[in-house]
Amino acid sequence: MKTDIENLWVFALASKSFRAFSAESIACTVLLVALTCLAMTFIYWSHPGGPAWGRNFKNIIPLLLKSSKTKPVIPGPRGLPLIGSMALMTSLAHRKIAAMARSCNAKRLMAFSLGQTRVVVTCHPDVAREILNSSVFADRPVKESAYSLMFNRAIGFAQYGVYWRTLRRISAAHLFSPKQIKNSEVQRREIASQMVAMFGTHKEKLAIREVVKRASLNNMMCSVFGRKYELEFGASMNNEVEELKGLVDEGYDLLGMLNWSDHLPWLADFDAQKIRFRCSNLVPRVNRFVSRIISEHRTGVEAGKDEKAPDFVDVLLSLQGPDKLSNSDMIAVLWEMIFRGTDTVAVLIEWIMARMVLHPDVQSTVHDELDKVVGRSRAVNESDISELVYLTAVVKEVLRLHPPGPLLSWARLAITDTTIDGYHVPIGTTAMVNMWAISRDPEVWVDPLEFKPDRFVARDGELEFSVFGSDLRLAPFGSGRRTCPGKALGLTTVTYWVASLLQEYEWLPLDENAVDLSEVLRLSCEMAKPLVAKVLPRRSGVKPSSAQ
Ligand code: HEM
Repeated sequence: MKTDIENLWVFALASKSFRAFSAESIACTVLLVALTCLAMTFIYWSHPGGPAWGRNFKNIIPLLLKSSKTKPVIPGPRGLPLIGSMALMTSLAHRKIAAMARSCNAKRLMAFSLGQTRVVVTCHPDVAREILNSSVFADRPVKESAYSLMFNRAIGFAQYGVYWRTLRRISAAHLFSPKQIKNSEVQRREIASQMVAMFGTHKEKLAIREVVKRASLNNMMCSVFGRKYELEFGASMNNEVEELKGLVDEGYDLLGMLNWSDHLPWLADFDAQKIRFRCSNLVPRVNRFVSRIISEHRTGVEAGKDEKAPDFVDVLLSLQGPDKLSNSDMIAVLWEMIFRGTDTVAVLIEWIMARMVLHPDVQSTVHDELDKVVGRSRAVNESDISELVYLTAVVKEVLRLHPPGPLLSWARLAITDTTIDGYHVPIGTTAMVNMWAISRDPEVWVDPLEFKPDRFVARDGELEFSVFGSDLRLAPFGSGRRTCPGKALGLTTVTYWVASLLQEYEWLPLDENAVDLSEVLRLSCEMAKPLVAKVLPRRSGVKPSSAQ
């Protein structure tokens, strides 16, 4: 039986705890929590490189204690509390990062924070080699749009491992091997002559970029889906090409955007930039489009299927055993190939043609070489390219000054703790290489801002400079395990099509301000103002026209 004294006890306790929850004490608690959060935010932010680096207690404690055992700290900007240096990644990120690295004296390795993401970036070829060739950086950082658009099941964003290796092996054997590149020569020749005809006969003004993008899309449609299309514009354009172009353009836009919620997870629920929304609209359309082509291949409905050489869809469908891909994986792989193969090539060709218009002396040297190697009586063949030494040097010089991926398109992710250039880099750090800064560095290149293709013409006894990743002074296709698998195909296509355009025409500015080299960085770095040029035929039988 409870006594009165016991009841009093209960009453006293209840009133005490009620007081503990009074408005005053709640306000005190909230204030305490807020002050603690503020203090933590400030402590995180005080770390060189900003808040994402400070969040790592292993970093912050020795720094606060000023311990003698402190490891060297990677220099870098703090940026702003919470968001760090997000501003660095907006607009022309490669230029902003290069300028910041210079001002922090951190060209070799700079740390910065993108919200909660720790980033290191190098503007130095030796450190670039260390990062790109390290097995620790064989993965890609998580990017919501890439995952939503299925790229995590394709080569570009697949996790480093068995699945990714299988995809690389299959595509290396069936799409990118020297034999496959040779086999697709006929289709590139047909498309080159369609482009030449279009520049020669089209009455309206044509955007060079638009023509080359369509050409490039048709080329990939042929290699990947086995579909052949005429190069057409306006009303006569094929619906299927038009539809695919729309899908590629939308995907290109989404992947090129800086998604704030990739780095600030507390923003994820809001989808403020509508990226998730747009991806979820795009994916079913891509699925429908690619599934239709796959099922036509399955049922053999395609016209002339028996006679034609197998395309990449046929190859994927023929895989058996452990290599066999599910339908959705196949869609992701095919979609990525179309996607990656289209814009990189078109963007690079536009830069090359812009430089040709801007430097008539260089263009005339290319014309002299074409006259010597090919003559004016015929079109260029791909087999001529090995003798077009100066043209090859022009392409490399443009890759040096205008790499389509100035930050190498997609970054790398550290899968374990590691050491780069003597600094500790923790697991989960994103690593970038600023190839644009390296290839314009006066300590690496003589007269780096001058357009001098001669620098790539090998003198007697010299080896030709390879841009395929062995020399990190210029590696526009990346290097190491994640290097671009399409580099030989891409470079062959670009060099051959540029040779064809220059063989047929002299390219002249429309007026004195026709070439503006300003850039815009989307997924690739493009000319901000599309190239405007006039063409004059060099060989008989091709009519002049204006191209814009
Ligand atoms: C001028 C043409 C091209 C340029 C400048 C270029 C550049 C690049 C760069 C810089 C990377 C990242 C490399 C790295 O992380 O080290 C890359 C990756 C990739 N590229 Fe290219 N590329 C070109 C053409 C192509 C073509 C034609 C295709 C396919 C048809 C292609 C497919 C890919 C794929 C699938 C990856 C991801 C590789 C992986 O993560 O394992 N690229 N490219």
